[in-house]
Amino acid sequence: EVIMPPGLERRVDTFLADYLSGKPKGINVFSRSSSDASVATEESLFEQPEPLSHNKAAMEKNVWRKSMQMHDEQRSWQECPEGRNMMKFRSTLPAYKEKDVILNAISQNQVIIISGETGCGKTTQIPQFILESEIECMQGAMCNIICTQPRRISAMSVSERIATERGETLGETVGYKVRLEGMKGRDTHLLFCTTGILLRRLLVDRNLMGVTYVIVDEIHERGINEDFLLIVLKDLLPRRPELRLILMSATLDAELFSSYLGGAPVVHIPGFTYPVKTHFLESILEATRYQLTPYNQVDDYGTEKMWKMSKQTPRKRKSQIASTVEDALSAADFKDYTALTQESMSYWNPDCIGFNLIEYLLCNICEKERAGAVLVFLTGWDDISSLKDKLQAHPVLGDPNRVLLLACHGSMASEEQKLIFNKPEDGIRKIVLATNIAETSITIDDVVFVVDCGKAKETSYDALNNTPCLLPSWISKVSAKQRRGRAGRVQPGECYHLYPRCVYDAFEDYQLPEILRTPLQSLCLQIKSLKLGSISEFLSRALQSPENLAVQNAIEYLKTIGALDENEKLTVLGHYLTMLPMEPKLGKMLILGAIFNCLDPVLSVVAGLSVRDPFLAPLDKKDLAEAAKAQFSHDFSDHLALVRAYKGWKVADGDQTGYEYCWKNFLSAQSMKAIDSLRKEFYSLLKDTGLVDSNPATYNVWSYDEHLVRAIICYGLYPGICSIVHNEKSFSLKTMEDGHVLLYSNSVNARHSRIPYPWLVFNEKIKVNSVFLRDSTAVSDSMLLLFGGSISKGDMDDHLKMLGGYLEFYMDPSIAKLYQNLRRELDELIQTK
Ligand code: CDP
Ligand code: MG
Repeated sequence: EVIMPPGLERRVDTFLADYLSGKPKGINVFSRSSSDASVATEESLFEQPEPLSHNKAAMEKNVWRKSMQMHDEQRSWQECPEGRNMMKFRSTLPAYKEKDVILNAISQNQVIIISGETGCGKTTQIPQFILESEIECMQGAMCNIICTQPRRISAMSVSERIATERGETLGETVGYKVRLEGMKGRDTHLLFCTTGILLRRLLVDRNLMGVTYVIVDEIHERGINEDFLLIVLKDLLPRRPELRLILMSATLDAELFSSYLGGAPVVHIPGFTYPVKTHFLESILEATRYQLTPYNQVDDYGTEKMWKMSKQTPRKRKSQIASTVEDALSAADFKDYTALTQESMSYWNPDCIGFNLIEYLLCNICEKERAGAVLVFLTGWDDISSLKDKLQAHPVLGDPNRVLLLACHGSMASEEQKLIFNKPEDGIRKIVLATNIAETSITIDDVVFVVDCGKAKETSYDALNNTPCLLPSWISKVSAKQRRGRAGRVQPGECYHLYPRCVYDAFEDYQLPEILRTPLQSLCLQIKSLKLGSISEFLSRALQSPENLAVQNAIEYLKTIGALDENEKLTVLGHYLTMLPMEPKLGKMLILGAIFNCLDPVLSVVAGLSVRDPFLAPLDKKDLAEAAKAQFSHDFSDHLALVRAYKGWKVADGDQTGYEYCWKNFLSAQSMKAIDSLRKEFYSLLKDTGLVDSNPATYNVWSYDEHLVRAIICYGLYPGICSIVHNEKSFSLKTMEDGHVLLYSNSVNARHSRIPYPWLVFNEKIKVNSVFLRDSTAVSDSMLLLFGGSISKGDMDDHLKMLGGYLEFYMDPSIAKLYQNLRRELDELIQTK
């Protein structure tokens, strides 16, 4: 017979009351009619205690028994030799020294903020401190900790690490849950998940019943999801007084969060790093200028110009500096060095980060420097894979007996992740090519050298032009410091910044929060689906509120595409779109693809729009590449060209032949693989919405009606539309907002002098000097009339009027009538499916 410590009984009571009253299961997303209502069966994050009865005594006993068991298991691990070793390691981490302070602060405040240098043990230790102390106090079975991560890979790798530190396997006490993947079980009490998962959970369980601690990690990154989550949690706190909220940040701007959350206390973990020697581009160039080109014929112009610039140091605006540096680099005679081969230079190419220089530096480190891993920061997955290919062909860097070459990015497989943390054998140097994921969320212990390209991909958004773009742009001073700091974790290190000091001086101090620089469409949909009231009112309560114009644009867009109705209420289409975590336009295509049973090509289109353009256009083989693309595209559509290219690849795919096919057709094998896996991912997302069943045979059909797919592309990309005006020899393009626009040179439509259609729909326009359209598909009047705009709004007369000016046959009322009827039918079909 065990006696419960005082105070515990009350906690058991509230805990059980939460569970029994809440019983969060799933909800009816649609209340149209009960028979065909789709049910979002979002599984609950933690298991409910057993036995599931209303017998309080039985449950109490069960919870108590479980807690004791957890306690005993924890003890026995801590007392065995391996456990003690692990404890010894953990106690060397700076966070360990603050353990008591932190636990104390948590017990006395509903919200606390913890800051500390990357690697000090925030992510791996603090959730563990909480868990361990709960288990110590015999409350293990009643404590449910959620720790959110901005990226799936950190949720996976951190949970794995903690399980190891606890001497368990993943999925026991510690688990993770990310989209489409997870490892958790009946006994999981500490769960790592992406911020998106927690937001989705809030959709069905607004009070987070049963959860006792929420830890939001990496808040310094100021991702849009985290900012959104903070507004929701701030509202939740008064409703759940027992719930504790812990925010963790790698930088010291914690005061901002503290004042946002009613003056929550801040605990800072003092860190320690070794000094890092910093090299900027000018000194790197100085040391390497005679070795970079094979012929030793360096035109001093480039380097000279760079030096002069670094002497001038006028504090120019960031963008000005950016273009001057690119100019200097491309003007320098060593084209080799700037690696400007990838894309046409019709507009400023942000990808120029000097692959050859990186190769040279790495080779130098391998041959001359002391032992220690090298961490190279690049902008994204595509750069990582092309640099990796390049390095693998190098006699030193590609030699597996000397170099262990690894990649670290958001979409890598779990086995690959583990390799990053392993220490290689003596004499082998580990080189990790990483995105900014290695800046703060992943710590590789043995790094001594850092190479920093100075850029990161960030989404930016210009509210005035209402055009989003995902482009590599210069990082902030804080990020540069973080990157540098990665070199000094185990011993004094070196950091090579591949940009001059004056560029660094022009960096912003902090990066602009994502909520202020991205389109807000998906966010607005989420706000609506969580029933959080008026969008602008809700967003006005954010840590930093986005501009009103940006909010209004997003709402307007959602109305135009039919996701919101006139009164800002979610339409049926809107409901479906909230279940698809992707841009609304992509979601729209998938939904219609499912409804019209031509999902296979639509999956390729949507996946293709989500990866980097798979059609390569190397500068020196431009004509060949364009000709290769042209064989896929006899029908005036870049999107359909991609559908064919993928299909061909899929048929050829059996490793070697797949590559051959890509090689022959100037296609990126990586993009093809990415499309392949995205297609699967999108398909499972669609399954969640209930629009398709689980038998892939239903969508895996090669034959499809090309016109239908064209119409569906139109449905997704509207209002991205421009009219084609033919003159004698060729044609020009016009959009309503921009007037004349041009086609990006590698579009298949740029190769024609006539296009037998009146319209193009496009995915993306980019403003440089003129406005350029990237991929486009030609569509007919009827497609635009039927599929353009918000099908579910029913304002057909307005719609016809708007398009009428362009439609010769609009004047015939019988045709107009016909279209009206067709639209109405289509509308009903979509509403009822
Ligand atoms: O979150 P924070 O950046 O403060 O540090 P952390 O991710 O908790 O990592 C603390 C330490 O745990 C690192 O410095 C590594 O020594 C170690 N660690 C590890 O060995 N393997 C991992 N997968 C994660 C962390
Ligand atoms: Mg961390």
